[in-house]
Amino acid sequence: MTDGPRSLPPEVDMTTPSAARLYDFYLGGKDNFPADRQAGNDLLARIPEVRTMAQANRLWLRRVVRYLVAEAGVRQFIDIGSGLPTADNTHEIAHRHDPQARVVYVDHDPIVLAHARALLAEDPVTTDVVQADLREPHTILRAPQTQRLIDPEQPVAILLVAVLHFLRDQDGPHEILAQLREELAPGSFLAVSHVENDTMPERAELLEQLYAATSSPGQTRGYAEIAGFFEGFELVDPGLCHVSDWRPDPDEPYYPPEQAWGYGGLGRLAR
Ligand SMILES: C[S@@+](CC[C@H](N)C(=O)[O-])C[C@H]1O[C@@H](n2cnc3c(N)ncnc32)[C@H](O)[C@@H]1O
Repeated sequence: MTDGPRSLPPEVDMTTPSAARLYDFYLGGKDNFPADRQAGNDLLARIPEVRTMAQANRLWLRRVVRYLVAEAGVRQFIDIGSGLPTADNTHEIAHRHDPQARVVYVDHDPIVLAHARALLAEDPVTTDVVQADLREPHTILRAPQTQRLIDPEQPVAILLVAVLHFLRDQDGPHEILAQLREELAPGSFLAVSHVENDTMPERAELLEQLYAATSSPGQTRGYAEIAGFFEGFELVDPGLCHVSDWRPDPDEPYYPPEQAWGYGGLGRLAR
């Protein structure tokens, strides 16, 4: 856990639950407000597996980053929709394998940025944080923090972990991904995890309804739609699958699809 920022930015709305703080609440964090806890408890009462979904997703993130650094040789990461700092943040996982690995965290929620800055102040050489919206990929890529840490000539991993389901179709996720893809050096990667609506369609619909009352309404998707986000990338083995089935680690807890209805995949740029 973080020590947290000394004061919160004035634009933080404490009365409307936010995706970042709800997720923090599911994971047992303390960076949330009464409105988040109330909404989180309501959500857990109706869809108890949101907690195991969050846990399985964090374990997937850990395995993906470990693979990228230790096996694929990636040394730079742009983690978009990074969320509130928790256990095993991307730079902490990467630094276990290479302390020089660089990570830019991006989120549109000002509270995430305030907490992330407090954590990352300890590590300014290899990490930084950008407040930006995934819907504006050029703002992310042109931000001074990104330009300071990310060498555009070298492979980079774009992490979109549990964030694309906050873009609705009308936000143009494919166009956004195409804009990101065009800027990537050969050998770059795209990691996506996403809540799916194949395993528990009615509960997925309920989840969408409940999130409609938060500051982060979203859209769950099926296998083909989520696989479509990897256009221009070649999926690394085992392809897109339930997050717990992606290169599982026998030392970690295993959450079956009914407890973790999210798909995860890692693609390598095809050009
Ligand atoms: C469910 S959390 C996931 C956090 C982390 N990536 C993980 O998987 O553990 C989703 C995060 O995405 C952020 N987010 C949602 N929509 C976004 C957008 N359009 N641009 C940037 N960040 C966004 C939220 O603020 C939140 O912190």
